[in-house]
Amino acid sequence: MGRKELLLLTAAMSALTLTLLVVIGCGGSGGPIATPPPRQPGQSEQFLQLLPAAQRTATYVGSDRCGDCHDGGHGGGTGKIDVAAFNNTLHSQAGMGCESCHGPASIHNANPTRDNILTYPLVTRTAVCAQCHGPKSAAYDISKHAKIVESVKDEAETNPAVYGKNCFRCHSAAFRTQYVDAKLSSGMSRDDVHAGIVALSDQEIVRTAQLSQESASCVNCHEPHKKTGNLTESGKDKHLMRKVFSMDGTSISPGAPIAQHTTVDHMCGACHNSRGGRNDDTSLNTSTTRPPFHNGPQYNMLLGIGGVEGTGPPVRTTAHSDAPGQCVHCHMPQGRHSFTTSFDLSCQPCHTPGDADARSAIKGAIELQLFSLRTRMENWARGRFNDPDMWDYTSMIAAKQKTAPPQAQVPIEIKRARHNYYFILRDKSLGIHNSAYTRHLLNVANQNLDTLGVGRAAPLPPGRSPDYVRRILQEDIRIGNIAARSEKD
Ligand code: HEC
Ligand code: HEC
Ligand code: HEC
Ligand code: HEC
Ligand code: HEC
Ligand code: HEC
Ligand code: HEC
Ligand code: HEC
Repeated sequence: MGRKELLLLTAAMSALTLTLLVVIGCGGSGGPIATPPPRQPGQSEQFLQLLPAAQRTATYVGSDRCGDCHDGGHGGGTGKIDVAAFNNTLHSQAGMGCESCHGPASIHNANPTRDNILTYPLVTRTAVCAQCHGPKSAAYDISKHAKIVESVKDEAETNPAVYGKNCFRCHSAAFRTQYVDAKLSSGMSRDDVHAGIVALSDQEIVRTAQLSQESASCVNCHEPHKKTGNLTESGKDKHLMRKVFSMDGTSISPGAPIAQHTTVDHMCGACHNSRGGRNDDTSLNTSTTRPPFHNGPQYNMLLGIGGVEGTGPPVRTTAHSDAPGQCVHCHMPQGRHSFTTSFDLSCQPCHTPGDADARSAIKGAIELQLFSLRTRMENWARGRFNDPDMWDYTSMIAAKQKTAPPQAQVPIEIKRARHNYYFILRDKSLGIHNSAYTRHLLNVANQNLDTLGVGRAAPLPPGRSPDYVRRILQEDIRIGNIAARSEKD
């Protein structure tokens, strides 16, 4: 938060004092029911609209009494908040109270129910924080985190027991806040978090689905009630839910249970991981319907975990996985909340902007190598099945309105190669995240095709442009997104 925002806040706080004086001066309770509640610092219309009907006429009474009923520390059961820990935050010290986020509480204090206080799911909306964090919210709003993936939301509403319980752990900010983040934050074990989600009623999930608007909101990354001890790269406590740096790849290793993949103790890796993706030959022979990597295996790529590695030892980690701050260093330089990278800020102090720009030529090179690998797989499929698409997973072929061959007729070499193809493609950074591992996986894939006697393919077909190549690769991502909708676990 900059100086300007603080000034605004201070101004708004004096306005609040003034409003309170006016309210007290008018005798408070005597007014008509329709009187709008007094305004809090920086309060916005969007915030007011979140308040439940029964809270709209309430007035602000301060945080003093909340602790009488809600103090108990985390882990003390539903609705227990550690008030002492809250008082130790910059929020509290800057004069904010519980009502800054939960809305005016005079009615709730007199007659406490869940219906007269802003709570889950609507309290997880970014409009709550946007009251005061304008610039951060504006940056966040242009990111994909600010939107829901509609197809996943639809599936969750129509089949809550499968899609809601599995997909909403990373695809609904509201769901995740309540059933993953708040639970982990209160000290619950990962297994119990999983069991709790499995036990949820369909009705509860449909209710959340209907109100889900964001993929990942402020409170999926920031614990609202306390400091967490998860420090930023520069050593500050910004209430981060999870670590920004971790080289512990156990929970994203190919054998880890799928349920663990949503509780990885890593700020971004908690969602941006492969979610499965066994790479042993037995699994490659049995999991043939779709790429075994979910759409964003970036944390796996950064750590070099999950591709088919062949016999030679791969270089797993590079200077990029060692960068303090990891994803955040490059995607959130200076606290940038659009999650976009830029050569000037993301790549320092290690590269000059010019050096980073020059090195990024690797993206074009990897694109061509991916395309050439794909062409080789097509050439194999032409020879074997007389159809260039038949190297692919069955649901990908189905999405092209064709019938896949029996997968027993697809040799393991193709299965290894297509695994690595999708792993690199879905990472989306085209070699930036982990150039050494990316190159290693391409080599292994090509060696497997050599074994089958498929000739090497030219990087760029005659008469084609890099744009053409990019379109074909993007199309594989797009069809993969459609195929992802039929994933069930
Ligand atoms: C007199 C006791 C009392 C006071 C004072 C009180 N609450 Fe509550 N509060 C409750 C009870 C009891 C519930 C649970 C109601 C239910 O489950 O129907 C609750 C529910 C809530 C919830 C919803 C919890 C959930 O499970 O979704 C929130 C948020 C909340 N209170 C915040 C506050 C805040 C903020 C204050 C102070 C401004 C406050 N409460 C003051 C007793 C109190
Ligand atoms: C910065 C915004 C913010 C502030 C300040 C804040 N809360 Fe919350 N509160 C939230 C959000 C977001 C949730 C939902 C996520 C969660 O459960 O952790 C929540 C959840 C709750 C719940 C429901 C927990 C449950 O079991 O479902 C209670 C009770 C509560 N807050 C009380 C308080 C009290 C009391 C204070 C002041 C000491 C306070 N809050 C201050 C944002 C805030
Ligand atoms: C009523 C205004 C207000 C609301 C609402 C609000 N904040 Fe803040 N926030 C502040 C102020 C003021 C600061 C301190 C400014 C500073 O010095 O950086 C702050 C600081 C922070 C910090 C840095 C904490 C630190 O110790 O450096 C984080 C993180 C944060 N807010 C997140 C949130 C989130 C997430 C929400 C919504 C759940 C939220 N805030 C809601 C006013 C607000
Ligand atoms: C471990 C967290 C996680 C789980 C669980 C998860 N996803 Fe995703 N999903 C992601 C991430 C992260 C992305 C975005 C990756 C990117 O853009 O690189 C994504 C992207 C997607 C996309 C592509 C979105 C687009 O822009 O078209 C679809 C479709 C999708 N997921 C469907 C599902 C379905 C269906 C489920 C449940 C069966 C599911 N996801 C479960 C993390 C998850
Ligand atoms: C995907 C995770 C993520 C989301 C979503 C997110 N933040 Fe952050 N936020 C972070 C991280 C990580 C940092 C620390 C960046 C750094 O290293 O300085 C941070 C820092 C901050 C800070 C402290 C800035 C400073 O310089 O002191 C504030 C305030 C903040 N976030 C508010 C918000 C608000 C408001 C939202 C929602 C509109 C939000 N964040 C959404 C991850 C997130
Ligand atoms: C709660 C789960 C979650 C967390 C935590 C999370 N993300 Fe995401 N992220 C997603 C989902 C889901 C999408 C895709 C949304 C879509 O396709 O519409 C996404 C999209 C993105 C995109 C855009 C990808 C594209 O294809 O344009 C970037 C970049 C990104 N996230 C970076 C990060 C970084 C960096 C962090 C950590 C600071 C992070 N994310 C934390 C769930 C998450
Ligand atoms: C060394 C810096 C660096 C690190 C570390 C890093 N990224 Fe990236 N990331 C990039 C660059 C550069 C791109 C390519 C951006 C582009 O093409 O516009 C990228 C691309 C992405 C994309 C695809 C964005 C899109 O628009 O298609 C996602 C999602 C992503 N990164 C998430 C992550 C996550 C999650 C982590 C941590 C596990 C991470 N990144 C670590 C630099 C980094
Ligand atoms: C923490 C320091 C650090 C940061 C931050 C960082 N890099 Fe690097 N990067 C390195 C080091 C060290 C190497 C390996 C140098 C070598 O041996 O060639 C490297 C290698 C690379 C390579 C591989 C070149 C190749 O052909 O193998 C690319 C591409 C790259 N960086 C791009 C970027 C971009 C783009 C950013 C910012 C978005 C970035 N880096 C951020 C330290 C960093």
